[in-house]
Amino acid sequence: MTRRERGSQRKPGPTRGAGRIQPGTARPTRGRAENRRGRVQTQVTSSRPHHDHAATQPGAARPSHARGRAKPQPSATRQEQRRSHSPASAAVRFEARPTDERALEQCLRSEQPLQVGDWLWTMREGAERDLIEELLRYEKTALQPRRLSAALVASSRAPLDADARLDVTFARQGFLVTHIARAEAIAELAASLAPALHACLRGEKRYALQVFVPDSTAGNPLATRAEALDQALALHEASDAERIPDADLRRHGGVLIQICLLSHTTAALGCTPSDRALSLWPGGRARMKLAGDFPSRAARKLAEAFAWLGMAPGSGETCVDLGAAPGGWSWLLLERKARVIAVDPARLEPKLMQNSRLRHVQGSAFDFTPEQPVDWLLCDMAWRPLEVAQMLGRWARQRHTRMLVANFKLPMKRKVEMLERLRAVLSASGFASIRMRQLYHDREEITLTAHVR
Ligand SMILES: C[S@@+](CC[C@H](N)C(=O)[O-])C[C@H]1O[C@@H](n2cnc3c(N)ncnc32)[C@H](O)[C@@H]1O
Repeated sequence: MTRRERGSQRKPGPTRGAGRIQPGTARPTRGRAENRRGRVQTQVTSSRPHHDHAATQPGAARPSHARGRAKPQPSATRQEQRRSHSPASAAVRFEARPTDERALEQCLRSEQPLQVGDWLWTMREGAERDLIEELLRYEKTALQPRRLSAALVASSRAPLDADARLDVTFARQGFLVTHIARAEAIAELAASLAPALHACLRGEKRYALQVFVPDSTAGNPLATRAEALDQALALHEASDAERIPDADLRRHGGVLIQICLLSHTTAALGCTPSDRALSLWPGGRARMKLAGDFPSRAARKLAEAFAWLGMAPGSGETCVDLGAAPGGWSWLLLERKARVIAVDPARLEPKLMQNSRLRHVQGSAFDFTPEQPVDWLLCDMAWRPLEVAQMLGRWARQRHTRMLVANFKLPMKRKVEMLERLRAVLSASGFASIRMRQLYHDREEITLTAHVR
C-alpha cells in the first residue's frame, strides 16, 4: 500500500464545527497507533548508516559507503539528517516485554557523553527513566538510550512511526545532533557553531532558530547564557534564508535549527524540517497563555492537548467533561462556544454554572451515560488509569463519542507498562489513532488522544 493509499484510508476527525488549532505542536491525527506497539513493524532510523539496515527511499540518497565512496565522517551531515527522518532506513520492532531493570539502571548510570550522530531528547525533569524505559522497549540494543543529565537523554537512533514521524511519549523534543561546540566565552561558542548553522541553512528559504536549556534545576539558570548565545549567533547568520518566528514555521514551513546548551561551556546543534519536528516550541516547552479568568491551571493542559492534536471542539459541538471540577477544561470548552456536560461529584466554580451551555451532572463518571452520542469526550479524572480506560472503552464500543482527549494520572513507577495496557484496552474497545505524550503542562500524567473507528 502506498503512503497516499494509507492516507486516503485515514479516518477523518470531527468536521462539524471542529476548529483547527494554530499554536503549539499542531499536527493532525495520522493513524499512528495501528502502526506501533508490535502489531506491524515500527520504523527506527539511524543517523549512522548500517549496511544491513539501510533501505533506500525514493528521492533519498543512499549512504555514501553503499555507493563505494569513502566512509562518512563522524559528523552527521544535513543529508544524513533528512535521511534520518525518512521512513524505513531501518525497521526495529517495538516489543511489549517486561522492562529489563538491569539494563535500565545501566542506562541511567551511563557516563557516555553526547556524541555527534546521537539523538538528544528533552523531557520533564525526573522523566528520564520513563523515556529510557520507553526506548528500551524497542528491539534489544536498537536505540541505546542513556541519561545525560537531569531532563536530557541521548540515544543512538530514534523511533519513528510508519509516516516517519517521531513517536515518543515521554520526550518533549528530540533532534539529531550534527555538531557539538565547547568554549568558555559566548563569542567563541557562537563562532564554533556558525559553520554547522550555515550548513543547516544551505538551500533553505526560511528557518527558525531556538537556543534552549534543559528544563531542570541545573539547566534553567543557564537561560540568560542561552539568550546571549542566540544574540551572538545573529552575527553569524548571514545567509539568503530568512529567520522567522517559531509560530510562522507552522504556517509557512522551514527548517528548525535547535541548539541546546547542555552546560555552561557545551552546546549541541541539530536541524529538522519543521514538519518532522516533535515540537515547534524551544525544547518542547509549550507554554500555553490563556486570557481570562479560568478556574484551574488544568485549562492549560487541555489547551496544549488541542494544540498538539491539531483540532479542537468548535461552536455548537457537544462535549462531555469527565472529572470536570473545579472547571478549567469546561471553561476552555465554553470559551470555544461548545456545549458542555460536566460530570464530577465535586462542585464546579460558581461562575461557570451561570453559563447556559453548561450542565453539571454531580455524580460519578462510572454511572454516567449520555442521552445522545456526543462529539468529544474529555476526561481528566483523578482515578486509577486502567479503570478509567475500561470506562472510556465503553464509550467507544457504544459509539457515544467520536473523539477522545484523556489525561491519565500515573503515580506508579512502571509508567511505560501501564501505557501499553491502556493502549491495549482502548484499542480493543474501538479507539484508533491513539497517541500519547507527556505534554509540557502534564506532571505525573500523560495526555492521550484518539478517535472512534
Ligand atoms: C485533576 S481534577 C480535574 C480538573 C479539571 N479538569 C479542571 O479543569 O478543573 C480531577 C477530578 O476528578 C474527579 N473525579 C474523581 N473520581 C471521579 C469519578 N468517579 N467521576 C467523576 N469525577 C471524578 C475529582 O472530583 C476531581 O475533581
